[in-house]
Amino acid sequence: MKPPATRMKDINPSLIRRLFDLAQGIEGIISLGIGEPDFDTPEHIKNAAKQALDDNFTHYTPVPGTLELRVAIADYLNEAYGLDYKPESEIVLTCGATEALHDIMLAYVKGDEVLVPDPGFLGYPEYVRMAEGKPVWYPCPEKNGFQPDLDTLNELVTKKTVMIIINSPCNPTGAVFERKTLEGIAEIAIDNDLLIVTDEVYEKFIYEGKHIPIASLGVADRTILVNGFSKTFSMTGWRLGYICGDAEVINAVNIAHMFTTVTTPSFAQKAALTALKGPKESIKEMKDEYRWRRDFFVKELNTIENISCIIPNGAFYAFPNISAFGKTSVEFSEYLIEKAKVVTVPGNAFGSNIGEGHVRMSYACTRENLKEALSRIKDVLSI
Ligand SMILES: Cc1ncc(COP(=O)(O)O)c(C=O)c1O
Repeated sequence: MKPPATRMKDINPSLIRRLFDLAQGIEGIISLGIGEPDFDTPEHIKNAAKQALDDNFTHYTPVPGTLELRVAIADYLNEAYGLDYKPESEIVLTCGATEALHDIMLAYVKGDEVLVPDPGFLGYPEYVRMAEGKPVWYPCPEKNGFQPDLDTLNELVTKKTVMIIINSPCNPTGAVFERKTLEGIAEIAIDNDLLIVTDEVYEKFIYEGKHIPIASLGVADRTILVNGFSKTFSMTGWRLGYICGDAEVINAVNIAHMFTTVTTPSFAQKAALTALKGPKESIKEMKDEYRWRRDFFVKELNTIENISCIIPNGAFYAFPNISAFGKTSVEFSEYLIEKAKVVTVPGNAFGSNIGEGHVRMSYACTRENLKEALSRIKDVLSI
């Protein structure tokens, strides 16, 4: 059998897969490992897709998505943040933020270095590697509240650096980057002529403060904004995301998009239009529920001896420090699966080393499961 191409050699999904394999088949297992909302897609959004199917809206749409949906996205970003994107030339719909990030890498990276957050979403380094680039991790240390260390970020820029990826609110830490942090990043990008890729998929789930898109801080021309419908509208399976940026950027990523997926599912685009234009109560309901769970869960975690957890201001993850147990994060996660039947994700999956000593626990699960998971964790850790 021929081996896969060399570009795949450093791509290693095995860590999380191994843990999920370990958890498979264990009766009564509770997963805090999930990175998706535990709510159903709201009815009116599903109905719009059903209607689209009945209307036979089942063919290819224009490559960047229907104009009406791009207009709705432009209107949304304008009303919410005063951003000014032209629907005709500065927005493209993609199959999730995932495809958006791939398209961007394909369009802008080959042999270049890309600065990725550490700890950060585990997809970033892999998207960079698949485009034959080199991920370079910039630290977001716990002592900074998981905000980036800007001096180090600046020092990591080399002649080969092409872009900085940021993610606020952040997966896995829940950190929401402060205005001064974003201004610092913007300054570094300007000084070094870098692109900024900003992944804003958790934008609606901020419990303290407000979301600030970095594009609103005077760097819209060099910023590529990525967002999607997965988290905000609980639509992970619909595979809808989008990219906004300068027309030249969108032209390049749209070519990558065209030869990757052609376009996003047509009837899902109708559903997304309804999501943006229809009632938004579901977002508030989800946010209120996440806030309750966050407050409860993090407070309880902090009562456990040897665990300390910074209060996450956004997303739906807690990233407690478990280093006092003297186990690696993988050993700690394995221990919780085996002894407590609770799945967590080891922190070292999220970067080069800062995540070590932590585990990610998602509170996108029912209150009942959260309470049960906590009680089991407390039991096995107090031995
Ligand atoms: C930070 C971040 N970006 C992107 C994605 C992918 O989202 P999508 O479902 O839109 O592809 C995720 C999913 O967990 C995420 O956490």
